[in-house]
Amino acid sequence: MQLSWKTLHNLEKEFGDSFFLLDLDKFKRNYQEFLHSFRSIYPHTNLGYSYKTNYIPKLCQTVDSLGGYAEVVSQMEYDLALRIGVSPSRIIFNGPLKSPEDLENAILAGSIVNLDCLEEVEIVAALARRLPEQKIAVGLRCNFDVGAGRISRFGFDVEGGALDDVFKIFQELNNCSVLGLHCHISTSTRSVESYKLRTQKIIELSDYYFQNQLPQFIDLGGGFFGKMNDDLKAQFDCYIPSYQEYAQGIAPQLRSRFPDDSGPELIIEPGVAIVADVLSFVGKVVGLKTVKSRQIALVVGSIHNVKPTLTDKKLSLQIYSDEENSPTKKLTSPVDLVGYTCMEHDCLYPDYPHKIGIGDYAVFENLGAYTVVLKPPFIRPNPPIIGYESSLEKYTLIRRQETSQDVFSTYVI
Ligand SMILES: Cc1ncc(COP(=O)(O)O)c(C=O)c1O
Repeated sequence: MQLSWKTLHNLEKEFGDSFFLLDLDKFKRNYQEFLHSFRSIYPHTNLGYSYKTNYIPKLCQTVDSLGGYAEVVSQMEYDLALRIGVSPSRIIFNGPLKSPEDLENAILAGSIVNLDCLEEVEIVAALARRLPEQKIAVGLRCNFDVGAGRISRFGFDVEGGALDDVFKIFQELNNCSVLGLHCHISTSTRSVESYKLRTQKIIELSDYYFQNQLPQFIDLGGGFFGKMNDDLKAQFDCYIPSYQEYAQGIAPQLRSRFPDDSGPELIIEPGVAIVADVLSFVGKVVGLKTVKSRQIALVVGSIHNVKPTLTDKKLSLQIYSDEENSPTKKLTSPVDLVGYTCMEHDCLYPDYPHKIGIGDYAVFENLGAYTVVLKPPFIRPNPPIIGYESSLEKYTLIRRQETSQDVFSTYVI
């Protein structure tokens, strides 16, 4: 997507002075490249897109049309998948909290449901007893150590015997079976090594519990780094692997353990990896101020739009100025780009090292992961999201500007 001040100015006229830009072609390319990296080594691989990372329905629909699963962690996300036409059998239902009703409905509808705790096992066992003619199958999330440096709260503790207990409970019920094993382990370095280790461990578990009968799937979760520019990469004190390096860490182990084509389906659940670099935020510069030694530019936006996770990383920023009619009022560097909230910490970008003027557009890149889904209704409603598809050569509305009425519609007034 090629941007210029003129393009942004035209978009402002149509959509307002702050908006997100969604690059749909890039999302498709990321999806296909990520999948291909794995399939070229282990063909029986599929992706489940993590809705929570960014549930813009257009992205979720794209994944469905490309043959991917919807990976959801709540009934809200499950409902979205159904609403956009995803077949229940293409939904993977993860997460620590599923109500008995939601759990039962998803299992009976044929979704892959990965159980997280004993209480969920009891719900499923009760369902199996209630419906003795019904074949019931679930996945189990496994909890084991890959050197993440903390004790994870998710899944069944392998070492402590909890996973073993669940297999025993299901063995006693003759209409209940375990379809496959799941794990998602987040680590700060997202290293290839940790993926090698989790693949090795989950294959060992699969060999132990399924023996000659192969599991239907092995699901290794998400948590991979996505693509980023060098400035952003330099702020991480760890190596940022490519899609191909991740695939090399995982897929050859499955290939050698299951050399023929009837091996279990490998499921990978990327969020960040395929969505982080497809969304940018555009905010117009509308105010300039100098206070003692501090130069300040007010942008129509806030940290809640660009970093609701409160990351300490400096964002990737491009400023677009009108080259033909340069504004008379400008600040020279360094400039703090600040937001519309009344909080001192609302600084979208500190110490911008170039000139900045009224009417410029600040474009913050690489915001696809955990931004629109985490933005609170703090002080101003949400800006619109505009999509771009180069094949159509046009910008289309993906989400309209939110109104005050939207924000207050659930309150009793
Ligand atoms: C079960 C599960 N799968 C996939 C993901 C996606 O992780 P990421 O967006 O880091 O790829 C998450 C995120 O927490 C998760 O909990």
